[in-house]
Amino acid sequence: CGIIGYIGDRAACEVIVKGLKRLEYRGYDSAGVVTEDGGKLFIKKGAGAIDELTEKLGLLEMPGKRGIGHTRWATHGVPNEINAHPHTDCTGKIALVHNGIIENFAEIREYLLSLGHTFKSDTDTEVIAHLIEEELKSAPSFEDAMRNALLKLRGSFALGIIYAEEPDRLYFVRNESPLVLGIGDGENFAASDVPAFLEYTNRAVFLDDGEYAVIGKDFYVIKKLATGEVVEKPVQEIEWTLEMAEKSGYPHFMLKEIYEQPRAIKDAIHGNIDAVKRAAEEIARYEKIFIIAMGTSYHAGLVGRYLFQRLAKRVPIVEDASEFRYEFEDLIDEDTLVIAITQSGETADTLAAMKLAKKRGAKVLAIVNVVGSMATRVADMTLYTHAGPEIGVAATKTYTTQLTVLTMLAIELARVLGTADEAYLSSLEKGLKRVPDLVESVLKHDAALRELAENLADRRDFFYIGRGINVPTALEGALKLKEISYIHAEGLSAGELKHGPLALLEEGVPVVAVAPSGKTFDKMVGNVEESRARGAFIIGLGDREELRRVSSAFIEMPGIDELMTPIVYIIPLQLIAYHLAVLRGNDPDKPRNLAKSVTVE
Ligand code: G6P
Repeated sequence: CGIIGYIGDRAACEVIVKGLKRLEYRGYDSAGVVTEDGGKLFIKKGAGAIDELTEKLGLLEMPGKRGIGHTRWATHGVPNEINAHPHTDCTGKIALVHNGIIENFAEIREYLLSLGHTFKSDTDTEVIAHLIEEELKSAPSFEDAMRNALLKLRGSFALGIIYAEEPDRLYFVRNESPLVLGIGDGENFAASDVPAFLEYTNRAVFLDDGEYAVIGKDFYVIKKLATGEVVEKPVQEIEWTLEMAEKSGYPHFMLKEIYEQPRAIKDAIHGNIDAVKRAAEEIARYEKIFIIAMGTSYHAGLVGRYLFQRLAKRVPIVEDASEFRYEFEDLIDEDTLVIAITQSGETADTLAAMKLAKKRGAKVLAIVNVVGSMATRVADMTLYTHAGPEIGVAATKTYTTQLTVLTMLAIELARVLGTADEAYLSSLEKGLKRVPDLVESVLKHDAALRELAENLADRRDFFYIGRGINVPTALEGALKLKEISYIHAEGLSAGELKHGPLALLEEGVPVVAVAPSGKTFDKMVGNVEESRARGAFIIGLGDREELRRVSSAFIEMPGIDELMTPIVYIIPLQLIAYHLAVLRGNDPDKPRNLAKSVTVE
């Protein structure tokens, strides 16, 4: 879910609606806005996307110069008008919006019901408003009432709270769900993410868990929720421009982000030259290494394993974070290093696994895109991917930059451990520097890939096969397709094909073969032949004539060391998924049932 709050001299509704548009990637099944004018709260909310609701509800006609907006991804209660935020108390003077989950909400609801409160919605959020109302009866101030109430909650939350009777301020609270303040001149903002207010200010203050902010037109103060004690925090200048956070003329964020990859990879390289040296020194001390992540970041982790084992002769265990927590708890100790990969730095499963690892005494290194995100605070060390904001739900540039960082890390680790000769390692480094140009050259296949997608738009199943370091490429290619085109896809090692999935191949079923030159190339050609014999439509990605000969469609890829092929070979697969999504009438930026940051477990 996404939160945006504003207080200043502008029409609050305009700032909020714009902010919500930029936060839509965080959830978009319903939305709502509250503003205050003349001591009265105005609330409008409903189910649907922001544009639709802006028109239907007249969000831009709301009065007042302070207010809060929310875009929702349902966790409690179906997405509808009643369950949309903001929610209010019985008096209608307290309104709030919430991201996250209140674990003990049923208990609190019972307690409040026994006191005579009545509820309009099924949400866990509404109980917070009523709990504050209850506390207000005995607390000396609204702020105290809010604190007393929030201290009774268990769970993850970011909140935006407005009280009708205090016209000069808004409250924002963070506990395991992101929140950042935007500091302006005679106006202030709060949001789940920086792009929401970047048009107005690039000065940001990141809240930590267990902190809340009181913001007015000309002031802001951050305090600890537990004690009310004031916390001093640095103001960070955000280098992302608004243009970077917007579509820059592309029809979708996803396409823009695919095209940004040469730049993003360059930034990832430049931003990490020194950082990976420090990180590698640290990693070298550990034999027991885990890589944990979810979704696309998990696929990056799988590539990371190949890089580590081939170059540094260390074989990390790669596990999806939701499994790691339950399966490996006993095996984690002070001699363990955990590398957590997360674009958002806010994925609940990954954060929970990181916290567990820390608790057991392990060292935690995070590879993160979002500066100031929770993962960066939990980790002992952070490497940033420097991809810039990624708005499309399907990860693209954050994946290739994660791979870039992992490649650099593995090279450096091999250097520290002396497991590969220097001439080879420096040739790999030179190769990596060429990757942005190679990606640029692969982007030139876009028109041909669109044409290919046109011919395949009606297919029901796709198979993606690869070997070695490109097994994860096959998995990621299939994931991209599933996420946004809703076509069933399977990614697997090419060798596995004949142990089951081959039974599904029939005339015209697309099989995407990720087959660069390398030690398993001949085997790949063999697997392609097997599929061809069953009538499959072969889409070959490679740099060898032998592959062209057996492909129904061939995408010529530049030659590069096999270790870097995952970065380059995923590009056409991202584009195929994108075009198929668009051709099938889907919005690739906002796939159904999915959210960019999954902040619940
Ligand atoms: C969600 C997104 C995926 C992403 C995964 C992990 O499921 O839809 O695109 O890969 O979360 O996110 P993270 O921010 O931790 O990389």
